[in-house]
Amino acid sequence: MHDLRILILAAGKGTRMKSKKAKVLHHAGGAPLIEHVVAAARSLSPDVTITVGHQAEKVRELIPEATFVEQKEQLGTGHAVMMAREAFSGFKGDLLILPGDVPLIAAGTLQNFAAFHREGRYTASVLTAEVENPFGYGRIVRRGDSEVESIVEHRDATPEILRIAEINTSIYVFNTPALFDALTKVRNENSQKEFYLTDVIGILVSQQKKVGAFKVPHANEILGINTRAELVSVDRILRRRKCEALMADGVTIVDPDSTFIDGAVQIGADTIIYPSVQISGRTTIGEDVTVHSFCRIANSAIGSRSTILDGCIIVDSSVGEDISVGPFAHLRMHTKLEKGVKVGNFVEIKKSTLGAGTKSLHLTYLGDATIGKACNIGAGTITCNYDGFTKNPTIIEDEVFIGSDSQLIAPVKIGKGAYVAAGSSITEDVPAESLAIARGRQVVKEGWVRDRKKRRG
Ligand code: UD1
Ligand code: MG
Repeated sequence: MHDLRILILAAGKGTRMKSKKAKVLHHAGGAPLIEHVVAAARSLSPDVTITVGHQAEKVRELIPEATFVEQKEQLGTGHAVMMAREAFSGFKGDLLILPGDVPLIAAGTLQNFAAFHREGRYTASVLTAEVENPFGYGRIVRRGDSEVESIVEHRDATPEILRIAEINTSIYVFNTPALFDALTKVRNENSQKEFYLTDVIGILVSQQKKVGAFKVPHANEILGINTRAELVSVDRILRRRKCEALMADGVTIVDPDSTFIDGAVQIGADTIIYPSVQISGRTTIGEDVTVHSFCRIANSAIGSRSTILDGCIIVDSSVGEDISVGPFAHLRMHTKLEKGVKVGNFVEIKKSTLGAGTKSLHLTYLGDATIGKACNIGAGTITCNYDGFTKNPTIIEDEVFIGSDSQLIAPVKIGKGAYVAAGSSITEDVPAESLAIARGRQVVKEGWVRDRKKRRG
């Protein structure tokens, strides 16, 4: 698209959020609000400028490819645009302005809106919406039925204006020189003592400039977020969209209402997600996977045909193909399970690798362990990886059998094919093909109970 640049307003604190965090940094659909807006805007032009104020550094870090303008004091939306005057000096084209808090806006709507502005040869165009509850929004006041006359903020509106259902979405396209010229005329004589960008519309109309209004077909898209309750409703819409997109691609989501899947998550066809599952971050899940209820999977990969049973937490880890995990297993910190591994009830695995076909089925802690192929890790095994100062490694080579209730006191290495007898506390390396027994020898005192009874009389 020729000669169009973008300005996103994101300096506001978002007082009504009652948060230490700037509003545009709050998450909906698994990503900060500003990221959604930037993504939609980028479909029109890569040239994005952002006005920042509250937590400016954090916003800069999030969107490193944008240009930033600082608004140190938040004196209103008009003031925020004025701060960008230098950034656009000499630019004669169109400027698309968006607030940072409208994450549902669709790229297609912005494209149609920009085309409307261009084709109508308007000096300014406002994107408007007809909503059921216009409370809090600026109202579009029209001359008769057609032309826009002005925008009046809710707080400054008469009862008659408050009845208008057409609202300002805070998305505009302006002829850039006309915008900055009109901004010099904006005053802060209103209930909030702020410089309103909305006043520019009335000023341009009074200068006989052509102002257009373009109504969005789906009012949902322009929902702005001012409160936590609004954040939750927008989050729900984004998550619903994600579930619907996945279902369209062949994923079964048994209960989309209780399923939370972030926008960036990828899931293959014929995978089934049972109710009450949360999948977030950069997670990828293969085909024919089953994820049962009450699992949380974050920034992880799950290979095809694997099954995650109920109640598992999998974070920053990689689960290969044909694997079974859970119920109630916890994988974290770059744990890697290779093809065909089985991890069962109440097993915690941290920063460890389990080779193909290895099993660890019950009540176990494996930390900082490198475990080979086809091993059997008995119930209740613990790698004692921490000595109070440092984390020490455990190495278990292929085809090792660790008997139940054993402690492997790291650093320690169990050689290929070795056996560790149940109940052992292993403090020294075990050579390949050997049996290590490290427990008290059993003593049986035959008839001890009978003799004791006799002694007591
Ligand atoms: C604004 C509009 C209102 C519209 C509504 C749509 C004005 C005066 N009002 O009201 O007509 O119906 O959006 O959601 O423009 N910001 C700054 N610096 C500031 C103030 C705000 O950067 O000094 C940014 C905020 O970070 C936010 C955006 O501008 O992203 C909108 O500000 P907000 O306070 O949400 O305006 P509303 O009261 O919602
Ligand atoms: Mg707002």
